[in-house]
Amino acid sequence: MRIRVDPDKCQGHARCYALAPELFAIDDYGLSTVVGDGTVPPGLEGRARLAIDNCPEFAVQEVGATGD
Ligand code: F3S
Repeated sequence: MRIRVDPDKCQGHARCYALAPELFAIDDYGLSTVVGDGTVPPGLEGRARLAIDNCPEFAVQEVGATGD
């Protein structure tokens, strides 16, 4: 599983970071980016899905199997 943050949608709510600090970093502007290339380590898929479901801007997205 791989995730991304859409920089055009992220408004800095930081719920993703609160729910899964292993998977996200907050930049100097308060906006979120994924750690590394967004690949979710084994065992953290549930938290990744929580972050996807809890971003009010729908900015956290699962990257498709085709790598889009
Ligand atoms: Fe941004 Fe959503 Fe996280 S708005 S900081 S991706 S909760």
